[in-house]
Amino acid sequence: MEAGTGSKNFAELATIRIGIVPGDGIGPIIMKQAIRVLECLLKDEIAAGRISLVPIEGLTIENRLACGQAVPEECLQAIRTCDVLLKGPTTTPKGGSMESANVTLRRELDLYANVRPVSVPDEGIDWVFYRENTEGEYALGSRGIELPGKLSMDFKVTTDAGTRRIARAAFEYARLNGKTNVAIVTKANIMKKTDGMFSRIAHEVAADYPGIEAEDWYIDIMTANLVNPALRSRFQVFLLPNLYGDIITDEAAQIQGGVGTAGSANIGDRYAMFEAIHGSAPRKIEAGEGDYANPASILKAAEMMLRHIAMPEKAERLQAAMRICTETEHRVTVTGHRDGATCEAFTDYLLETMRSL
Ligand code: IPM
Ligand code: MG
Repeated sequence: MEAGTGSKNFAELATIRIGIVPGDGIGPIIMKQAIRVLECLLKDEIAAGRISLVPIEGLTIENRLACGQAVPEECLQAIRTCDVLLKGPTTTPKGGSMESANVTLRRELDLYANVRPVSVPDEGIDWVFYRENTEGEYALGSRGIELPGKLSMDFKVTTDAGTRRIARAAFEYARLNGKTNVAIVTKANIMKKTDGMFSRIAHEVAADYPGIEAEDWYIDIMTANLVNPALRSRFQVFLLPNLYGDIITDEAAQIQGGVGTAGSANIGDRYAMFEAIHGSAPRKIEAGEGDYANPASILKAAEMMLRHIAMPEKAERLQAAMRICTETEHRVTVTGHRDGATCEAFTDYLLETMRSL
């Protein structure tokens, strides 16, 4: 883990390589549609060689189990040749010692900031979560200790530099976007060492931002606040350790309309990975409903990726078309089940709408 040093200047890169990772379960289904959308939006740039979409093979649960590696070495090498990644959800084996591919990628590529926006305009909700993405319970999560039948122990790690860089990212976002409040969410009354340090360092960083109020909250009451309509719209930016950020962003996504609707950006100084907030939905595949998966979350991730690579006008075109297709006109509805449209049919509608803009 290193101190943040600032990210690439994409506007000046001659070629931008976007790695495409299909993932497991509903991953390949939603990613296929996301690729159609990117190919449409980036048609000219792809033709001119400014952008290349690079298929990354082998990041599947079958191959990972066969190789005994959370991210097989060749995959990781291929990924390192890219600037950014658009990634479908990957299945995490429960139990055993294999680490989640997400956790490995976040660590190997040093993607320390997990940024998750959630908005419900009608209710004045406009939240951005800055979740620390490489430490906490995740740093040594697959290396706990067990005395079988007697005791189990996992570990939680907080570092000074790791906390400082995520706090800096959150406050910089607030400053650049005219936000006046950052909620620092921990359980420092119980996790005294790790969360205590997270909160203390967050306040040290906050001292460099005099116009922005830094408020301490505990994670338990914050989960209640998010479902309290009288209070929730006052929150703007959230800064949290890894596991609390994981949990509360699913809650926040549900408030926006479901985990199928929220995107997630994993940002580091050198690489960035964009993905759906949800998992690979094996139950949906077992029920034969994979084709009905909602592509909204991965499309939101694609929109965030376009902004990250300095193509805001493409992101806005996608965002505008999504608004028409899911809010204002809404001729085709995806429910995630057989009673709704398929992922492909929705994307046909989206492409048609995008071309008309
Ligand atoms: C997420 C996911 C991951 C996490 C899993 C897949 C390891 O839930 O990105 O929120 O726990 O971070
Ligand atoms: Mg999660």
